[in-house]
Amino acid sequence: MKGQTIIVTGGSSGMGKAMASRFAQAGAQVVITGRTQEKLKEAQQEIETFEGQIVTVQMDVRQPQDAVRMVQEAVDAFGRIDALVNNAAGNFLCAAEDLSVNGWNAVINIVLNGTFYCSQAVGKHWIAAGAKGSILNMVATYAWDAGPGVIHSASAKAGVLAMTRTLAVEWGHKYGIRVNAIAPGMIERTGGAERLLASPDAAEELKQSIPLHRFGTPEEIAGLAAFLLSPDAAYINGACYTMDGGQSLHQTFL
Ligand code: HXC
Repeated sequence: MKGQTIIVTGGSSGMGKAMASRFAQAGAQVVITGRTQEKLKEAQQEIETFEGQIVTVQMDVRQPQDAVRMVQEAVDAFGRIDALVNNAAGNFLCAAEDLSVNGWNAVINIVLNGTFYCSQAVGKHWIAAGAKGSILNMVATYAWDAGPGVIHSASAKAGVLAMTRTLAVEWGHKYGIRVNAIAPGMIERTGGAERLLASPDAAEELKQSIPLHRFGTPEEIAGLAAFLLSPDAAYINGACYTMDGGQSLHQTFL
């Protein structure tokens, strides 16, 4: 990844920070974005211990003008963009009948709209520069499997999966831009695990229902992300890789 510039939205914690660290270890120039300056700076200090260079962009993916600024700051810092990881997400467990309009909009705006704003801003930069790049989106298996309490997130992630496939076809055909997705299961040390697991007992019960009897790690997700952005994945386009220890196949496991 030497010489490559990779933007990771929501890069100051969880899977985003693990991906940014992995890319920096592989020699990449990394741009991490997030809403909180303090968290960004902490992550920057941690990632700076690796080989690659890192800059931070404080922004909210819900604001289209922030996405445009993100691209400008990445180009100002490193002169090029090679990949975008749309990792920023928002989620909380809430029964569909209790979800407020603001709650619905908050998650749809972060996950679905934010992914589009960032993808379009980076895509327009590549198209204008005659450059090629790669986009990686984070979805969730409940986008197609379903699950209670996540109607906002599942609807948004299903949209992101449709966006992944649509852009893979449209921008792949016209510009050679690759767009892929990862569907993580429950990953330890992430905002998702914090928000979606009601208690330690619920976590233990869930682990027992997963064929591998454990949650995934942010580092394992980072390894798959690094592969999907590497030359070894040059012919992978429009794909969605599930990494959930076999959880979504549990009916065949029992
Ligand atoms: C019901 C809730 C709520 C909850 C917020 N809301 N939390 N409603 N139950 N637990 C409602 C609020 O009451 C408000 O509506 C509206 O949502 C917006 O809330 P705010 O706090 O004002 O929004 P904001 O500060 O913008 O925060 C957005 C957020 C927050 C999504 C609510 O959780 C956040 O910033 N999350 C970012 C990190 C994150 O969620 N990471 C996990 C991603 S995991 P009202 O009507 O009261 O105004 C993931 C995939 C996991 O996505 C897959 C695992 C398998």
